[in-house]
Amino acid sequence: MNETIGFVGLGSMGVAMALRLAERGFPLRVWNRSPEKAEPLVRQGQARAERPEETAATGGIVVSMLADDRAVTKLFGANSPLLSRLGTGGLHISMSTIHPETSRRLAAEHRAAGVGYVTAPVFGRPDSAAAGTLWIPVSGSESARGRARPLLEALSRGIFEFGDDPGSANTVKLCGNFLIAAMMEAQGEVAAWAERSGLGAEAVMGMLSQTLFPCPVFQNYGKRIVAREFQPAGFRLTLGLKDVELAVAAARAVSVPLPLGSLVRDRALAAVNSGHANWDWSSLTLESRVGAGLPQKS
Ligand SMILES: NC(=O)c1ccc[n+]([C@@H]2O[C@H](COP(=O)([O-])OP(=O)(O)OC[C@H]3O[C@@H](n4cnc5c(N)ncnc54)[C@H](OP(=O)(O)O)[C@@H]3O)[C@@H](O)[C@H]2O)c1
Repeated sequence: MNETIGFVGLGSMGVAMALRLAERGFPLRVWNRSPEKAEPLVRQGQARAERPEETAATGGIVVSMLADDRAVTKLFGANSPLLSRLGTGGLHISMSTIHPETSRRLAAEHRAAGVGYVTAPVFGRPDSAAAGTLWIPVSGSESARGRARPLLEALSRGIFEFGDDPGSANTVKLCGNFLIAAMMEAQGEVAAWAERSGLGAEAVMGMLSQTLFPCPVFQNYGKRIVAREFQPAGFRLTLGLKDVELAVAAARAVSVPLPLGSLVRDRALAAVNSGHANWDWSSLTLESRVGAGLPQKS
């Protein structure tokens, strides 16, 4: 592909995704609030933008991988320089985990500016982003989804279409992260129980990972939780808390109670208050150890 793609947000996921796109032949113009995070891309010959709007060409494509609703709204809201510069025929591929309503509002504001909006949040951690093996639910207008597809294919091993509503793919992403958070809570409770019973949490989790739950997400988080390996974070606890809060709010918006979601949100909040904000989000399971009278530290 010859068209230069704009990329904003070079955190843990963004930098890995941008490097993957560059490796697959997409020329990039990148921007990050803390400019030093653009270095790995600049070293590879990708262009650096001094301001977010400089990533965009009129009628071009910009990808965003920012932390949260506030950051995406700040950069891409109505009358933002980035949106004005993208202009008629432009496309924003919005890949952050945000509330479905935020995507719907942003999509309307983009439409008013003549810009397409595709929602494409991702499943997978930074190593999957680097390897191009993310799973991606996608939603937005059919033409916008079609234009985004080659780029999403370079990042993923599977794309799942969820129709025209820009909020749909966000809902799918929040459903998935809610399930992972609830799974980790159960794993933390089992690990504490097994340790208290003198069985060895590793042996119990090891057997269950091979038999009842032989899937990578259960196996990988199970290992981290048992070993209490929470640093470096693949996914920071503050962002995990954000996602569980979004899940509870998005379910509430359609009048669905999420009792497990509320419980896990409080676990994550307590773990943040214990000083683990920048640890991996699996550290929310430390609260089960506290409840079981086990030490938090290894
Ligand atoms: N990590 C994972 O495993 C994972 C997996 C799937 C989805 N996600 C989702 O992907 C998104 C990014 O996650 P991440 O792990 O890459 O997070 P991260 O490492 O914390 O990076 C966040 C990015 O957002 C930028 N940012 C935050 N607030 C901003 C603001 N007000 N204005 C401009 N830029 C701002 C940060 O800039 P600075 O560098 O200047 O702080 C950074 O580029 C999140 O929505 C997350 O929920 C993460």
